[in-house]
Amino acid sequence: MTDLVKREYRDTALILTIDNPPVNVISQAVRAALLDACAEAKAALDAGRIDRVVVTGAGRSFVAGADAREFDGPALEPHLPDVLLALMQLPAIAAINGVALGGGYEIALACRYRIAAPAALIGLPEVTLGVVPGSGGTQRLPRLIGLARALPLVSTGTTLKAKAALAEGMVDALADDPLATALTLDLSQLGPATDNLPAPEAAPEAAQAARANAAKRLRGQTAPLKAIELMEATASLPLAEGMAAERAAFLDLRKGAQARALRHIFFAERGAGASAALKKLEPAPIDHVLVAGGGTMGAAIAYALNNAGIRITLLENDAEAEARARANLGKLFDEAVSRGKLDAAESARRQSDTIAFIHGPDTPLPAVDMVIEAVFENLDVKRALFERLGRDLPEDTILATNTSYLDVNRIAEVVPNPQRFLGLHFFAPAHLMKLVEVIRAADTSAQTLATTFALTKRLGKIAVEAGVCDGFIGNRILTRYRQTADVALLEGALPAQVDAAMVGFGMAMGPYEVQDLSGLDIAYANRKRKRDAGEVFKGRYVPVADRMVGDLERLGRKTKAGWYDYDSGKPTPSQVVDDQVRRASAEAGVTRRDFTDEELSRRLALSMIAEGADIIEEGIANRPADVDLVLVHGYGFPRWRGGPMRLADEWGLPALLAEYEALAAEDPKSWAVPALIRRLVAKGRSFADLNA
Ligand code: COA
Repeated sequence: MTDLVKREYRDTALILTIDNPPVNVISQAVRAALLDACAEAKAALDAGRIDRVVVTGAGRSFVAGADAREFDGPALEPHLPDVLLALMQLPAIAAINGVALGGGYEIALACRYRIAAPAALIGLPEVTLGVVPGSGGTQRLPRLIGLARALPLVSTGTTLKAKAALAEGMVDALADDPLATALTLDLSQLGPATDNLPAPEAAPEAAQAARANAAKRLRGQTAPLKAIELMEATASLPLAEGMAAERAAFLDLRKGAQARALRHIFFAERGAGASAALKKLEPAPIDHVLVAGGGTMGAAIAYALNNAGIRITLLENDAEAEARARANLGKLFDEAVSRGKLDAAESARRQSDTIAFIHGPDTPLPAVDMVIEAVFENLDVKRALFERLGRDLPEDTILATNTSYLDVNRIAEVVPNPQRFLGLHFFAPAHLMKLVEVIRAADTSAQTLATTFALTKRLGKIAVEAGVCDGFIGNRILTRYRQTADVALLEGALPAQVDAAMVGFGMAMGPYEVQDLSGLDIAYANRKRKRDAGEVFKGRYVPVADRMVGDLERLGRKTKAGWYDYDSGKPTPSQVVDDQVRRASAEAGVTRRDFTDEELSRRLALSMIAEGADIIEEGIANRPADVDLVLVHGYGFPRWRGGPMRLADEWGLPALLAEYEALAAEDPKSWAVPALIRRLVAKGRSFADLNA
């Protein structure tokens, strides 16, 4: 156990090194070891053997925080607040060699001086896990830096690089080697123990601003508001009472639904990407990528790749399109420069030395390691291009098509050696959105997937493997969700009510507002394409969207009219649309009825859960957590609900089964009981069991 906190006497110091790889989280055993080490330090101090204690972390982290895996069970002794009281009795210096987050920074707060390495990341991100700091963060930070500074940081879970943390007063000094600096520090520099600092001044304006921000940016979440309340109290409440209130809130929140959902997503993100089997394969090096198509999507993909150090050749049809592609990419570089993310000289160098543009059907192609195609979403256009790529490039070049709904197996047909072919579904804007669906076509090899996952990791993406079906994981669920919303219109709801219900549920935006933003014409063309191909729609047909595009030319925001009117710039409910909705109900012989917001949001969520269950059942998604990641990162599903499959577990599968049975009895064209849910209920299992 003592290995978890190594003790080393050096001159007049006792160095305590927390060593719990990979990131030194504070598990119960670490707390026990630290408490023990504090007792030894106290004895050494009393014996005059040392004059200081230096706390640091092994490896690249100081301490990443509490071990969130322990949050599912009861709090185990010794508790961190008690360990920190022991630490506070000592002349302790925190040598912050790397990340000091959550409980890690609370350890630093219990020290009397804090020295950070420039690369360290510092802060109290607990609210992002649905809890408040549980070991003094809300009480000691306001005492150290003032309420006006602490409130916005803790209520949003903001973490800061060392330099910014110094500016906020969260650390006292920066040093390349914090440990060496701590060992030679003049002890007169040590401050009083944080608990001996006076209570901070009240800051009602900062509290109000933090509340307003939480209401807007962290809508629906309880932890940020609780953190604000706890911090505000520091101005008037004795420290001991504040500490007790904080601890009670922490323990209460951590077992709540929001914290459990946020932990689920946190660990799902870390488990995303290549499966264990794929990780065993050696990915092929990717140094040079041909991006075909330099529109908004292609340019953003090229930019993201280039940011990861990859050489780019961008292929376009003709000189004019090449000029547009250059402009699109140039704009992304310029934005990075104007935001201070890239310096102008480096931007110019990268554009001239690492990105080449070529055009034309006969231009020779360089022997690249991979192609990512991002041309117009049309099967014939893509097939023609891949015929050429298959012919002109080495037979082991990985070929990827970026598509949001086309059948990638139909494209693979034209590729010689289709084991090296796959689909990618990037989300716009591709250089900013973290999600990417990696589409496994019928013949895609494990090696191709392994190399592609290594690439997405290099890009810093959250990559989720998906099989081939219409819409893959995300757009397939989206289609079902929208269809369910349309049926609710038919039965009595109106677009603005559906949107309000879903925003109340926690979605970033309602389904109709989103459609107006992205434009109704693409989905319309997609539906028309399927109808023209003779595909029969099996659900209940709701003609409103088709009429809006086909008859009324209401394409969304871009025509200032869609599901809403935009005469004033802001969406306002449209009489024309409401009339269309009522007309559709009348034509279908449906007597319209009232829905509550709760009924609407539950029904729409049930449709996402049902489609997700089918997607897992069909093997399109490998695990429920992948469905959750796609919805949270690509479709504005509230992170604090953990995604639809996690929500299904929260609501309880037996209850859902009964609801699906009732819905299927009432409207068999729209609903069926998902076979997977029926099976899980029969076995007394949950989606979480399938993640394990
Ligand atoms: N509790 C339990 N495990 C944790 C953890 C935590 N607080 N923080 C990180 N880990 C685990 C990860 O699950 C991962 O485990 P794995 O290797 O089995 O997948 C491992 O530590 C490395 O973390 P990862 O995020 O992959 O490494 P990174 O270098 O990209 O990022 C951090 C490191 C510390 C910045 C990041 O993990 C992080 O932000 N952690 C959470 C910090 C936090 O919120 N602390 C407050 C807790 S209340």
